Amino acid sequence: MWGGRFSGGPSAVMQEINASIPFDKRLWRQDIAGSIAHVTMLGKQGIVEQSDADKIKAGLEQIFAEYETNGVPVNLEQEDIHMTIEARLTEIIGPVAGRLHTARSRNDQVATAFKLWVRDSLDEVIGAVRTLQGALVTRAEQHVDIILPGFTHLQVAQPVSLGHHLMAYFEMLQRDISRLEDARQRLNHCPLGSAALAGTGFALDRAATSDALGFDRPTDNSMDSVSDRDFALDYLYAASQIAIHLSRLAEELIIWSSQPFGFTNMSDKWSTGSSIMPQKRNPDAAELVRGHCGRIIGNFNALMIAMKGLPLAYSKDMQNDKPPVFETHDLLGLCIVAMTGMIETVTFNEDAMRKAAASGFSTATDLADWLVRDLNIPFREAHHITGAAVKLCEERGVMLADLTPQDMANIDDRLQNVTLPDLSINGSVNSRISHGGTAPTMVKQAIENAKRILST
Ligand code: ARG
Repeated sequence: MWGGRFSGGPSAVMQEINASIPFDKRLWRQDIAGSIAHVTMLGKQGIVEQSDADKIKAGLEQIFAEYETNGVPVNLEQEDIHMTIEARLTEIIGPVAGRLHTARSRNDQVATAFKLWVRDSLDEVIGAVRTLQGALVTRAEQHVDIILPGFTHLQVAQPVSLGHHLMAYFEMLQRDISRLEDARQRLNHCPLGSAALAGTGFALDRAATSDALGFDRPTDNSMDSVSDRDFALDYLYAASQIAIHLSRLAEELIIWSSQPFGFTNMSDKWSTGSSIMPQKRNPDAAELVRGHCGRIIGNFNALMIAMKGLPLAYSKDMQNDKPPVFETHDLLGLCIVAMTGMIETVTFNEDAMRKAAASGFSTATDLADWLVRDLNIPFREAHHITGAAVKLCEERGVMLADLTPQDMANIDDRLQNVTLPDLSINGSVNSRISHGGTAPTMVKQAIENAKRILST
């Protein structure tokens, strides 16, 4: 394709280090779409004769059909997907194929094809995340009235509704969707027609190619257009953030399904056994989601580091933009589907959750709040009094609800003849009616809102 000023061919290692066809063959659909849009515009503008444009278009359509059935042939001599397609086009229609690359460079060509690919992936990820959100909402709705401990520092903190806990992940994924949509909107300007870096002297209609490819408008600066990979970084960041959320959920499922916790049973579908310990059922799928998250974050780092020192405009370093994006797409897709399956099938052990929720004096805050509300004691003092009550319970091996009015009076003079409030875990959960709180009435509202969001 560029042999004119060369007298020798590349060394075998040069060919190997240079070639991107082994991985960028995944861009074939988008590359052909970009070429069809380009040549259609060239024909309309009279830059290429209409009859030649028609031949090129028919050839490209034939290649599309061939690749659809047989896949993309990988030949390192063709370097990348763009050269592979053009070489095949030349085989099919002869030298007229050479007119396709008029007023175009591989630099704007690859930026366009890659943007189209990332855009498709964003749409796919949005759909998959929505499905996972649906699964979370379904399980949350079934378990609004189940109580488990809420933790801070992984120490029992306050009792919460299991539905509330699951809905926390709905919120995280909702922010993820907004990041994906935001990335999609920012990506959607078309670089095609920027040529190598400086634009072109041909009378292109950039708005026409932009429209044809479903972009909102053409990009404005030709140098930025061919050297911008922000869209790939936006994608990798949004993916990393999703992976972090999935990894935290995976971590909880792993802890919850451990024997000392016993909160959940992972379905056989998402577990594996041990080759030596016959009793084992391990939460491997959850562990792999947690593990894959590291690779996804690594891919984000890899591309940031690849980009950070590049002068304008295109440098070959940028060919390294694709492997991290492709791998992230594959890993993330697997993780989301696996997590959806785990959430759909996990079973919750209500008794173990309830017992744990009642442990660790989890309703101590309710006692302190009551001292503030009913006896007008400042919160800091109420905190201190409650701490003393917990200490007393610990010494006697009883629960807060077991303390007598005399016990309370002994702790503080102001507590003469008081009747203790409801310090049960149900009472505690039911009382948390602030906006976003864990009271079942509030959780049900959140679930209704979520359903409305998912149905639009
Ligand atoms: N395979 C290249 C890439 O993915 C295509 C662009 C090549 N451009 C160039 N000036 N060598 O980045």
